[in-house]
Amino acid sequence: MYLGVDYYPEHWPVEMMDEDMRRMREMGCNIIRIGEFAWQLMEPKEGQFDFSFFDQVIAKAKTHELKVMFGTPTATFPAWLAKTHPSILAQEMNGEVRVFGGRRQYCYNSRVYQQYTEKIVSKLVKHYANEPAIIAWQMDNEIGHEGSDQCYCEQCHLSFQDYLRDVYAEDIDRLNEAYGTIFWGQTYTDFAQIPMPTHTVTTHNPALRLDWARFRSDSINAFAKMQIDLIKRHRGAHQQVTHNLFGGFFNRAYDQNVMAAELDFVSYDNYPVWGGLKEPLKPAEIAMTLDYIRGLKQQNFWIVEQLMGAQGHNHIGYLPRPKQAQLWAYQAMARGCDNMLFFRWRGMDRGAEQFCLGIVDIDNETGRKYREVQEFMHDVAQQPSLTTPIHADVAILYDYDNIQSWAIQQQSDAFDFTQEFMRLYAPFHSANVMTDVLSTDKDFSKYKVIVLPVMQIMDEALAHRLRSFVASGGVLLMGYRAAIKNRHNNLHRFMPTPAFIHDLLGGRVRESESLGNGISAPVVAKGGYPRAVATVWRDMIEPSEGAQVLYHYDDKFYKEYACVTVNAYEMGFVYWVGAGLDEITMSDVVGRVLEKAGIADKAIMDRLERIERSEFSEQGDGQNSVVWYLNHTSHPQTVQFCTIAPYSVLKRQLSDES
Ligand code: GAL
Repeated sequence: MYLGVDYYPEHWPVEMMDEDMRRMREMGCNIIRIGEFAWQLMEPKEGQFDFSFFDQVIAKAKTHELKVMFGTPTATFPAWLAKTHPSILAQEMNGEVRVFGGRRQYCYNSRVYQQYTEKIVSKLVKHYANEPAIIAWQMDNEIGHEGSDQCYCEQCHLSFQDYLRDVYAEDIDRLNEAYGTIFWGQTYTDFAQIPMPTHTVTTHNPALRLDWARFRSDSINAFAKMQIDLIKRHRGAHQQVTHNLFGGFFNRAYDQNVMAAELDFVSYDNYPVWGGLKEPLKPAEIAMTLDYIRGLKQQNFWIVEQLMGAQGHNHIGYLPRPKQAQLWAYQAMARGCDNMLFFRWRGMDRGAEQFCLGIVDIDNETGRKYREVQEFMHDVAQQPSLTTPIHADVAILYDYDNIQSWAIQQQSDAFDFTQEFMRLYAPFHSANVMTDVLSTDKDFSKYKVIVLPVMQIMDEALAHRLRSFVASGGVLLMGYRAAIKNRHNNLHRFMPTPAFIHDLLGGRVRESESLGNGISAPVVAKGGYPRAVATVWRDMIEPSEGAQVLYHYDDKFYKEYACVTVNAYEMGFVYWVGAGLDEITMSDVVGRVLEKAGIADKAIMDRLERIERSEFSEQGDGQNSVVWYLNHTSHPQTVQFCTIAPYSVLKRQLSDES
């Protein structure tokens, strides 16, 4: 297991390096990550490559028995490059050009930037291909983060038109038909007439906007692949390639599954609290991001930036309480991270990240944070159960087009994709049922339960796979606004909705209502109790014969419509939730889903997360399984006669559980 820190030796006098590394070793590190923002040091003037500083760092790392992950430095290009080639700079929607100064200001479609990238990455990787200490390359840093996913420069405009030529096989009529440009007389006669979706009056065509989203995703993934391929071409056989994906839930303008397929392993930067956040993310939210990251390659992953101190550029929020950041590190390991580096060794007194704290503060003394990381590293290094594969019976599915479709037309001003995803994810987390979070293109046939929150985009192929899943005995939980749109982001024409699957779901949606901020609708269980509340959205479901109504609306005009139904279909069952239902009702629905699927509900109490892992890579018979309990609260909790201190962890053998 690799355990380590992100280290920026270029920030400090070289004389400090030995002592830093000695203390890192003492803390439990066996790896450092270096180099990802140091292009200017490696190529101080155009064409003059100099890796001597890092030669020295690596030599010292070796004497201290530290391995190295080396970052390609393309997230921060040198000032001379921006000066000589301003065309590399990305442009805002309003035409403003981003200037040199922050980071990630480059345009992915800039041919010039691609060429300079090719040069520095090839030189760097070749230089260290035979270096045994470097065991992995990190490609760039958090691609697409901090707004760098969008660029509206002329290069992007032309590339977008080329992208469309490609997608529509040079046939402009095909595009017109797909977009429905007859509406508002927008018919194009040439691809060169197609705009980028910048400011206009009212709004752009939703199909064009979805194509723009796919084009952004493609631009980012193509740039990443170009670099990954270079690394693979020049690296040593012992070196792997990864990329550190940022958090921020589903607000990403590229499909990370595409990049993940190119990487040897996925890495993640886990910051449960960042910037001015007054509260950290909820344990279920952190868990969901970890399940999502694990789902990208359906295998365990690395964390290469694990938060230890408070973070922020201009605003700083919540300070993790003693042991709380350590608990987040355990939670990440328990949910599939099997190698971990902490951000960062020492905070820096200058530059944009003065308030991004490290393990060691700027006084250079070791204190609470150091001790917590030390305790953590020494413990987890002895825990084989934290490296075995994770087994889940439930998969919660997302689809890149669907996420973008919601981002384009929010429909209810109370709608937030992540919040709606969490509405269906959180009850499984509270029940301590392990979940995989997967893209719909992954094979979901082996699961007992699959969940599709707000899946408004549906095509025949996906519908077919859902049908076979249920037919062969699976339990499907479907959210509201199901299957109303096609892959062009248009409504399904002349079809009953949910399109392709209304018989599978057991009903049709006759009307819908957007429940904007502050609006709710009463719902009640069949039989008059308990009562429930719908917010954000509601579909009025007319159940088909045979479908059973679990909840229905309870206001004057819509009483006859169902809100939650269950439908038996061949060997399986479909639960369908037609509204943004409150937490208690959602846990009732998920409880029924679990029961139907024969999965035990292991809810313990508020915010006590329970995760089972096998001690051996083969899933055993339970004899060799261990249970990790994580107390996410600020007070002690008791489980199985053991008290778990605030923000602490308890490990037990499964066989000892009564
Ligand atoms: C990450 C980023 C790091 C550093 C850190 C600060 O998102 O990859 O370079 O900026 O945030 O918290």
